[in-house]
Amino acid sequence: MFIRYSVAIIATIMIAACGNDKPTMKYEAPADGKALFKTNCSSCHNVKVKLVGPALAGVNERWPNKKKLHDYIHNSQAVIKTDAYAKSVFEANNKVIMTPFPNLTDDQIDAILKYVAEEEK
Ligand code: HEC
Repeated sequence: MFIRYSVAIIATIMIAACGNDKPTMKYEAPADGKALFKTNCSSCHNVKVKLVGPALAGVNERWPNKKKLHDYIHNSQAVIKTDAYAKSVFEANNKVIMTPFPNLTDDQIDAILKYVAEEEK
């Protein structure tokens, strides 16, 4: 009787322990704003000098709504349709269409914006 009980208890503990197994976390390197900027943006943007697109210094202040700024980088043309400021920037830059970046994650965009904020000092 006692042995039966022990087996049952051990089995229960083992099953519970298995249930606690967490899936192994995938390691993701923190987004590198400088590298992302160089790869995706630097053909048209510099932080301090106007190239094809405007100098990005001060962009965090010009876009107080962070969600809108992310949307703009994901797809500028969609935001230009609904936002007067975005439309004015488009017109001031000869209506050159900025490449959409639908695949950049929010973390990657934040890393780029942080890089811009550090470079503009
Ligand atoms: C093909 C050229 C091109 C590339 C590549 C590009 N942009 Fe632009 N960007 C522009 C142009 C041109 C404008 C001006 C607005 C317009 O014409 O739509 C602009 C405007 C912007 C603005 C608004 C600036 C302001 O003063 O409010 C932000 C923010 C911006 N770009 C961020 C980025 C980021 C971040 C990347 C890289 C992930 C990037 N852009 C890549 C051309 C580009």
